This record gives sequence, structure tokens and C-alpha cells, in this order.
Amino acid sequence: MQSWIPIVPESASSFSWKVDALYFYLSGVTLFFTLLISGTLIFFVIRYRRRTPYEIPRPVAGSHKLETVWTVIPFVIAMTMFVWGASVFFDQYKPPQNAIEVYVVGKQWMWKLQHATGQREINELHVPVGRKVRLIMTSEDVIHDFFVPAFRTKADVVPGRYTTMWFEATKPGTYHLFCAEYCGMNHSGMIGSVIVMEPRDFDNWLSGNVGSMTPATAGQQLYQTLGCASCHGGSGEGGRGPALTGTFGTQISLASGGTVTADEGYLRESIINPQAKLVAGFGPIMPTFQGQVSEDQLMQLVAYIKSLHGAGTTTPAPTPSAAASPSPARAVASPAPAPSIR
Ligand code: CUA
Repeated sequence: MQSWIPIVPESASSFSWKVDALYFYLSGVTLFFTLLISGTLIFFVIRYRRRTPYEIPRPVAGSHKLETVWTVIPFVIAMTMFVWGASVFFDQYKPPQNAIEVYVVGKQWMWKLQHATGQREINELHVPVGRKVRLIMTSEDVIHDFFVPAFRTKADVVPGRYTTMWFEATKPGTYHLFCAEYCGMNHSGMIGSVIVMEPRDFDNWLSGNVGSMTPATAGQQLYQTLGCASCHGGSGEGGRGPALTGTFGTQISLASGGTVTADEGYLRESIINPQAKLVAGFGPIMPTFQGQVSEDQLMQLVAYIKSLHGAGTTTPAPTPSAAASPSPARAVASPAPAPSIR
């Protein structure tokens, strides 16, 4: 089904009409001034054309009133564009609460997606209608860009970091998914679809596609295999590294002063480049895991750490355990980090 204006793609997300309204406003203003200026131009060319070969035009003196008018009007128009545009922008980039999370890895030339419940997809994303969906995205190679025209949203997918975007689909259907950043030979073939389903159909789809374990469970296994627990003991033992339970989403005090929010990006960076933002009270003893874990595995580790909010039922009061960290002296005195890594 097409939208009511044939050249505009279908509109199927909670904010797509806001983007359209802004777009039509910008187009309207542009069209209005294009017509006004070219119309006036043509009128003046005819009205004030030279009628005799020796005609001399009347000199024009300045006019403060005129100057003020044509400064103030464009200023006001430009500010409406700015304020309106900023409000649409913040609306789209403010992360929603209680969203379904989907992990996205772009690579030349495909989209790999995994739901928090474990289902994996390639070049297809199934989502329920009327639920907020948040994508946590990264790339294995070059910059890609996740673009769903019907949702009026897109975001770069960048190697070495996480970017996020969210949407709430408002209409069941199948919508185009494009890569919107030139990424090599088959960039144009890096396409897929977002399939928006009624909640009941979506639940059926989920239960019919159990497949692999959840990212959090896979992350937990990795956490054991890589020996993370020997320093970041889930329940405070270990102690050479900060406890991770309940850390996600909190403000972390850094050894270098200042704080950082423990979001997905921070967790990822701390696994790849542990010394970049050391937690206050800990020594720089953690080895890097660069090259030892794939982007998929990094996401699993991050998903596992995220799942450690208060350990489900038993709440081990995360902040005190992080604050009651061992002295830096003790941390530095034990230079054998993560024994089970090679
Ligand atoms: Cu990926 Cu273009």
C-alpha cells in the first residue's frame, strides 16, 4: 500500500509522520520563496525594462525598515526549522524505556541480527507492531548504515563502537531495509526487510524459531571460558576487578577523575581496551581481549553483563560492592590477570 502522496514512501512508525510534516514544511517554505523570488524577478524584468536607449534609472537610497524586515523574517523562519528539527531529532535519539532489544552486526554484505531471546536472523528483522524496538549495532568491517525508509529512521553502523536506534512500528507489513552507506562492491545488494507482525503472530514466530541460546546465556558461558569471573567475581570474590552485578546503566567513577555511564559502548570498550577508562580504585591489570572475541561474542558478553542487574531476585546492593573495592595496592600486587586466557 502506498502513502497518500505517491512519491513518499509508506509511513509505518510512530514518528514517521513527524518527519514527513517537517519535510513538507521545509519543501513548502522552499517552494514558496522560489516562486516569490522568481515571480518578482520576472515581474521586475518586464515592469522596469529599458524603454529608451538613453534611459537612466532613478537612484535607490537605503531603507532601514526594509533591511530590518528582510533580516527578521528569514531569521524567524530559520529558527522554526531549527527548533522543529531539533525536537524531531531528540525524539528519535532519546532511548526509549522497556524496548525490545535486538543486536545487529553489519558486515560486507549482510545484516546479522539476534533477538535478546536468542533468535537469529539474516537480512530480516521480525518485530511486533506497537512495541518499541531498540537496535544495538556494530560492524565487523567498514561503515554501514541501517535505513528503513518506512520508519523514517537510519543510523550509521560503525566498526569499533556501538550505535543505537529505535522505532515503534505502527502497521503490520514488510518494509525495505537498506544499507545507506557505500560499503564496497555489493553495497547495493546489502538489503533486507523488516517484517512487522501482530503481537500474537510475533509470539508464534518467536516460539517457532528457538534456535540458538540467548545472547546473555552465550555471554555467561564465554564469561566462564575466558576466566572473567576470576577477577570480576560475580558475588564480590575475585576482587581484582570491579564487580559487575548491577553496574549496567549506572555512573562509574573513573581513576582519572570524572564519571562515565556504564552503557553498552562503555562495556565494549572496557573489554577491548581496558585501560581506556579505568574504574577508580583498580589497577591497570586487565589484559585486552582485542582479537580474541568476535563482535558477536562481544555482544554476548555485553548482554550477559547487562543481565546482571541485581542478579534477578537476590539484590546484592551493587553500589556498595563497587565502592568497597580493594585497595589499588592490592590490585597492582597481583599481576597475574585472567589466568585462563592462554
Ligand atoms: Cu553496507 Cu553499504
